[in-house]
Amino acid sequence: MAEQTRKILFSRETIAAEVKRLGQEITRDYGDEEIMLVGVLKGSFLFIADLIREIETPSVVDFVRLASYGSGTRTSGIIEFRKELEMSIRDRHVIVVEDIVDSGYTLECLYNKLLLQEPRSLRVCTLIDKRAHREVDIEADYIGISMEDGFIIGYGLDHDERYRNLPDIYLIEET
Ligand code: IMP
Ligand code: MG
Repeated sequence: MAEQTRKILFSRETIAAEVKRLGQEITRDYGDEEIMLVGVLKGSFLFIADLIREIETPSVVDFVRLASYGSGTRTSGIIEFRKELEMSIRDRHVIVVEDIVDSGYTLECLYNKLLLQEPRSLRVCTLIDKRAHREVDIEADYIGISMEDGFIIGYGLDHDERYRNLPDIYLIEET
């Protein structure tokens, strides 16, 4: 069986600095106009908790739960909605909060579904933008950290449901 090694790719200090910057950008862009953050569970639960505390704009929050991966490290391309929004997004300024955009299938699927519900505006904020395997033409409006390739865990991100509790983000390497 392959051995796994992990090394820190993004430290908790780096993450905190980027989250603060994103909060400031969102505050600057929306001012006093109320926004609705839509967290994509489970991966974004730590990110949205930290981000919302860096935003001074009045904010409400709701969650959706999507799953695509199974237990592998590549997308299955099949997106399953496991939990719907509880609040209406109609006429609201909505920001989708994602942990990571990889192939882009998850985000595209959610984005198109939300658009049909007629938000006043719809933007996307992702902590990590992983660029190497993008398969659909979709870009987040707010990006914390860009990376090329590799599977990462920690700060909400899992491998087969584990490691979400690690405070730093690690790169997994199979050796
Ligand atoms: P996409 O549909 O391929 O863009 O995948 C998005 C989802 O896949 C994310 O919301 C994550 O749950 C998961 N994902 C993609 N890359 C990674 C990774 O490197 N570590 C952990 N989860 C990942
Ligand atoms: Mg996941």
